Amino acid sequence: MKKIGILTGGADCPGLNSVIRAVVRKGMQEGYVVAGIKNGWLGLVENDMRILDIRQTTGILDKGGTILGTSRMTLLDNATQIKQLAENYKRSGLDALIAVGGEETLKIALDLFNKGLIKVIGVPKSIDNALSGTDYAFGFDTAVNVATECIDRLHTTAESHHRIIVIEVMGRYTGWIALEAGIAGGADEILIPEIPTDLRKVCEDLKARHSRGRNFSIIVVSEGASVVGYNKDMAPVGERRRFGYVGEVVAKVIEESTGFETRVSVLGHIQRGGTPTAYDRLVGTQFGVKAVELVTQGKFGQMVSLRDNKLQSVDIARAVKKRKMIDMELYELAKVFFAA
Ligand code: F6P
Repeated sequence: MKKIGILTGGADCPGLNSVIRAVVRKGMQEGYVVAGIKNGWLGLVENDMRILDIRQTTGILDKGGTILGTSRMTLLDNATQIKQLAENYKRSGLDALIAVGGEETLKIALDLFNKGLIKVIGVPKSIDNALSGTDYAFGFDTAVNVATECIDRLHTTAESHHRIIVIEVMGRYTGWIALEAGIAGGADEILIPEIPTDLRKVCEDLKARHSRGRNFSIIVVSEGASVVGYNKDMAPVGERRRFGYVGEVVAKVIEESTGFETRVSVLGHIQRGGTPTAYDRLVGTQFGVKAVELVTQGKFGQMVSLRDNKLQSVDIARAVKKRKMIDMELYELAKVFFAA
């Protein structure tokens, strides 16, 4: 009987368990034994894996996170770990590996594949929606819905207290969550990594809005937002992480310059946790089934992808070559509502 391994690497996200469940169900139907590898690449280095069957993968569709655990392991430059991993892959009799993850995990998958050490199929997940080669990576829909709900809740406080509320969402290099949750939540300004924003202009717009009697505002900021004059290195590393600081800087500048009381809410990992939306469960399930089909077809080095609403596959190399930046047309649309 042939054996497939599955691992989930990098940041956790809602929908991972749907993929695991689908790989086990479809894999067993195709006659494979499926081994669940613990904690991403670390599990292969440490030979930490167990056989999965229906029992372990039942009732997990609605659970956030990953039943396999994950780690943020970057072993590309560690020859000893790569050697251990390759030995464990062989020794455990794996014929193929399904690596579920974002940019970081898939880059490692590609490197190991190119070195001839593993036969791999990639499955894209990313709450940031930043992977190229696919129109969608699961996790994003849940993150946007959670962020939108938080914006709605903060809206009521902003309105009641006549405050400005700055909401910092995830997204180090791309502003997808800020943009989509910002539009859905009625943000008055959206600050993202792709477009440098001049806070002086934002403050002028806010003053104008408030002078029209709109005496509260909602500002949505990506954690990696590009703000003119603000260098991310200004955030003290060590005491606080480099990311997760820009919201406070933005709020301080706005309060000082406009005189309006301004508060900050950093949503952080709330966006990544909890029950996946129906859409993320659906896509996770589709991706899992497709990944097993790609194993059967021997399409190694490929990643499952969703393009024009069709399940397809692309070279992992293409998916990790460059990040998928926000859709400029959508950003232009968002601007229609800025400080209106
Ligand atoms: O890549 C997903 C992501 O959630 C980013 O949006 C965020 O910047 C990062 O992971 C946070 O990583 P960690 O949980 O390791 O701090």
